Amino acid sequence: MNQGLYIGKRNEFIDRFTQSSAELRLLAKGDGTEVMFQTVRANETVFIEPGKVKETMEFFYILEGEIRIDTDNGQSIMKQGDYFYTNYLDKTVEFNTLTDVALLYVSTQPLFGYISETIRDLTEIAKKVEKKDSYTHSHIQRVKDYAAKIGNRMGLSKEKNQNIVFASLLHDIGKINVPDEILNKPGRLTDEEFEYIKRHPGDGAEMVKKTSYEYIWQIIEQHHERIDGSGYPHGLKGDEILIEAKIIAVSDTYDAMTTDRPYRKGLSSIQAVEELKRLSGIHYEKEIVDVMMNILIEEGVIE
Ligand SMILES: [Fe+2]
Ligand SMILES: [Fe+2]
Repeated sequence: MNQGLYIGKRNEFIDRFTQSSAELRLLAKGDGTEVMFQTVRANETVFIEPGKVKETMEFFYILEGEIRIDTDNGQSIMKQGDYFYTNYLDKTVEFNTLTDVALLYVSTQPLFGYISETIRDLTEIAKKVEKKDSYTHSHIQRVKDYAAKIGNRMGLSKEKNQNIVFASLLHDIGKINVPDEILNKPGRLTDEEFEYIKRHPGDGAEMVKKTSYEYIWQIIEQHHERIDGSGYPHGLKGDEILIEAKIIAVSDTYDAMTTDRPYRKGLSSIQAVEELKRLSGIHYEKEIVDVMMNILIEEGVIE
């Protein structure tokens, strides 16, 4: 522990953790309080969650860039020199970065270790899975983007939309346990091989249960369930499947179909949509397929 005066130079820090779109540096800590420096790339959503300790204040001062916060009274655009803080937070709040952003972040409870460990573990696994699974790096990002758009369009609650984002990012982490040869096998899998694949939603759910994201475990477990009961691992039907999982199913399937794999070329967007339409009401919720289609039309991906 530092006692007395401590002087820090630019680029000095106690600890830091880096993700693809954000970095958090712990600059100083004392008596439970932490002072952090956070940078986040443009067009990201940052969530501030209620602390483990209720009596937490989290303070953010914008050093650089522009963000948007949605409050009950509308949207607020905030710039360099503006600040906001949460006190005794009881529900998750979020802000969106409009540009690359740098923030001074002060918390009256120690959060750095907790945030960095949870996120570090899970994102590292997610990254490993992407490599293993030979998808392009952007697969997870695209699944998240489309799933979030569908959720917003369907007017789901903020909480559900946030769950969709987290669950999309982590949906396939259970694949870490599937042998590479099976994951990337060209052609049909044997029943025995398929048994391995079928375990990944449950394994992923178990993995998040050990973290602060445990509340999304069911979505992860259900992302391969299909409404006619033909999915896995449990063969759930219709309303037994969470809406968040049904949305991720559509977004994930669409992206999987349109992505090139080492052993086969991806379908065109229009072919993939035809396939989703064919299975609409059988595997996938009709409303979700329709919303997905509308989004693709509006974005000019299909006509
Ligand atoms: Fe999956
Ligand atoms: Fe996936």
